[in-house]
Amino acid sequence: MKPIGPLMWEHRLIEQIIPLIRNECIRLEAGNPPNILFIETSADFFRTYADRTHHGKEEDILFKALNKKNLSPEHESIMKELIGEHETARTTVKELLKAKEAYLRNESSSLDTILQSLDRLSELYPGHIEKEDKKFFYPAMEYFSNEEQEKMLDEFYAFDRSMIHEKYNDIINRMGGKPIKFP
Ligand SMILES: [Fe+2]
Ligand SMILES: [Fe+2]
Repeated sequence: MKPIGPLMWEHRLIEQIIPLIRNECIRLEAGNPPNILFIETSADFFRTYADRTHHGKEEDILFKALNKKNLSPEHESIMKELIGEHETARTTVKELLKAKEAYLRNESSSLDTILQSLDRLSELYPGHIEKEDKKFFYPAMEYFSNEEQEKMLDEFYAFDRSMIHEKYNDIINRMGGKPIKFP
């Protein structure tokens, strides 16, 4: 399997959250109060899965390796756009969580930010994923030999293995416990 295989499977899971977010937007637009559990669960999905696990492999492994290649101006420009979109997604999730906290403090103006953030995430990801799937991933693989692709796939798997420990180390840390460094 090519290293873009797991990335594309991850896209299929990330896509699943989009209609759920759109439903929450429709509920909010109809004047219903925000579903706090939904917001917190979605933010965790975006932070831990879409950003840390998925964008993490793209940025820390694939894009880093591409930076060492002589990229065409077109591919270089798409890669910059993709990194910019990752950054927008990160900022938007932060804004969503901040607005959720403000809402819990009874600051009703935060409702607009909650709706805007959810709306932006539901707009951003489908286009971002389509760009990677259709315009970037396959040509990106052309820069690597079979051996390099196999090595990248192994790096992806190693990266994924560390994610569950990172997540729960973070939880222990936030609960006041001492995180453990795994060998
Ligand atoms: Fe991406
Ligand atoms: Fe992606």
